[in-house]
Amino acid sequence: MAKFIIGSAWPYVQTVPHIGNMIGSVLSADVYARYLRMREHEVVFVSGSDMHGTPIEVEAIQLGVDPKEYAMRMHEIVSELFKRWNISFDLYTHTHSETHIGFVRKFFEKIYKNNYIFIQEDELPYCPNDKIFLPDRFIIGKCPYCGYERARGDQCERCGRLLEPRLLVEPKCAICGAKPEWRKTKHWYLDLKRLEEPVKRYVENNSELPQNAREMSLSILREGLRARAITRDNRWGIPAPFPGAEGKTIYVWFEAVLGYISAVKEYFEARGEPEKWEYFWKDPSAKAVFFVGKDNIPFHVIILPALIFASGEGYTTRLTTSSTEYLTYEGDKISKSRRWGIWIDEALKLMPADYWRFVLVYLRPENRDVDFTWATALDIINKIMNDDVGNFVHRVLSFIKSRMKGVVPAPGASTAEDEAFAAKIQELTKKAEEHYERIELKDALATAVELAREGNRYLNLRAPWQAAKERPEEANTIMYNAYWAVRNVAIIMYPVVPASMERLWQMMGLRPPILWREATRRPDPGVALGDVQPLFRRIERAEFESMMEELKRLREEKWSKRYPWEQVIL
Ligand code: MF3
Ligand code: ZN
Repeated sequence: MAKFIIGSAWPYVQTVPHIGNMIGSVLSADVYARYLRMREHEVVFVSGSDMHGTPIEVEAIQLGVDPKEYAMRMHEIVSELFKRWNISFDLYTHTHSETHIGFVRKFFEKIYKNNYIFIQEDELPYCPNDKIFLPDRFIIGKCPYCGYERARGDQCERCGRLLEPRLLVEPKCAICGAKPEWRKTKHWYLDLKRLEEPVKRYVENNSELPQNAREMSLSILREGLRARAITRDNRWGIPAPFPGAEGKTIYVWFEAVLGYISAVKEYFEARGEPEKWEYFWKDPSAKAVFFVGKDNIPFHVIILPALIFASGEGYTTRLTTSSTEYLTYEGDKISKSRRWGIWIDEALKLMPADYWRFVLVYLRPENRDVDFTWATALDIINKIMNDDVGNFVHRVLSFIKSRMKGVVPAPGASTAEDEAFAAKIQELTKKAEEHYERIELKDALATAVELAREGNRYLNLRAPWQAAKERPEEANTIMYNAYWAVRNVAIIMYPVVPASMERLWQMMGLRPPILWREATRRPDPGVALGDVQPLFRRIERAEFESMMEELKRLREEKWSKRYPWEQVIL
């Protein structure tokens, strides 16, 4: 047994997440957390809404609403949606929580005492119309690295490089479009230069980072880390705790990443065990795994470890980040302003959560960008979920139900084919386990599908319907093996489609919980099946077309509303 802290990128809540955000963070983290719990590890799975900073503030200003009220309303909605997607968070909180704010202020006081913070006066962009400084998302311009036209002051969304307003070519105010003036202001800087060595050692020695995270971080480190301002002149944020920094707030990224620690603290406080967070975060053998999209790599692989090193508080440094590439939608980047994509509220009006979970994990962009198209999604649902998996399960369970009095038979003698299949079940189960261990979630799922396909092939080859008439003992062996395969498919697929697999578990006559160690032993014969029902179903052309009509109708309604919280379909 080991200790795991699982985190998923904290979503900005100026709008509800889309399916790309979902597979990039929350859903992937959930699948992995569920797998670890099945392995009987000690797991604490946390995340929350990223409420502060410029994304919300810019929108709030544009809409003329209070950023706090806006963020809180959206937080409630997003929390509810994650429940409906069956995300098994131990705690989903937000960055305006008392625990988080207190934790962040103390954390930065400590770093300040450790001399990692210095003050610098700088010329920063200021909008003469809006009368505010323009950090981060308040300013846009051309990316000096890749030429992207709408790069933000802190990061280019296209190439993922960290930026500073000074680096933008032809910068403009994001609110009104005016050309900024440069004005003097004081800020507090984190001395990243002095943290470069430990961060470098951390990245170089971390064999678990996916290739995209490793390459991007090494390239940032090759250029050398430079001090970065961690305060802002914004109002909406956590007040900076440094002497003389009254009126300034902490840059959103530098506080939000600390949420992985503060949320574990908050979780245990709520359970009446206020010290227990240290049992996870201050145990050097505990592992923390963060699930993020590739644009989040620098903050999770460089900044968070740097902050942890600077704090000198003895937090575990066994951190790793599982970073995905992007999911595009029908050939193009998902974009709220162009209304291109599928958002997680409307998704559930079209299909149950497990259908989305299966499709998205099946497509998980682990090595390259992957395009979500409805044609592929329907193929996955109809041919893979329904035909390969659903039909196999149904063939087996309904055969036992109708021809074997609904009781799992004890196996008789085995032929070479039976033995080969038994070996296949064990081999594929082992393979799925290795994929899960390496956080190759897509391959773990594909392995379950492969097992179901092998099962179908085995049934065709061994024809138990014939054996049952002439050689009942042989039929017992075949159906026992087939049942075994179904049981292992259920175990491997449980983290991906938990609600469906809990249903299947009941059909198989088994009692929860669904544990991985079951998969390493043969099932017990003599178990009476429960009620057998189809597991998944196809979506036919006509039904799909009415789904698309429904989507259009929902969207006309939602996009006609003015406020983001009204634009959500619950
Ligand atoms: N809100 C950020 C995004 O959506 C992610 C923040 S992750 C955190 O890109 F760990 F910093 F909170
Ligand atoms: Zn302006």
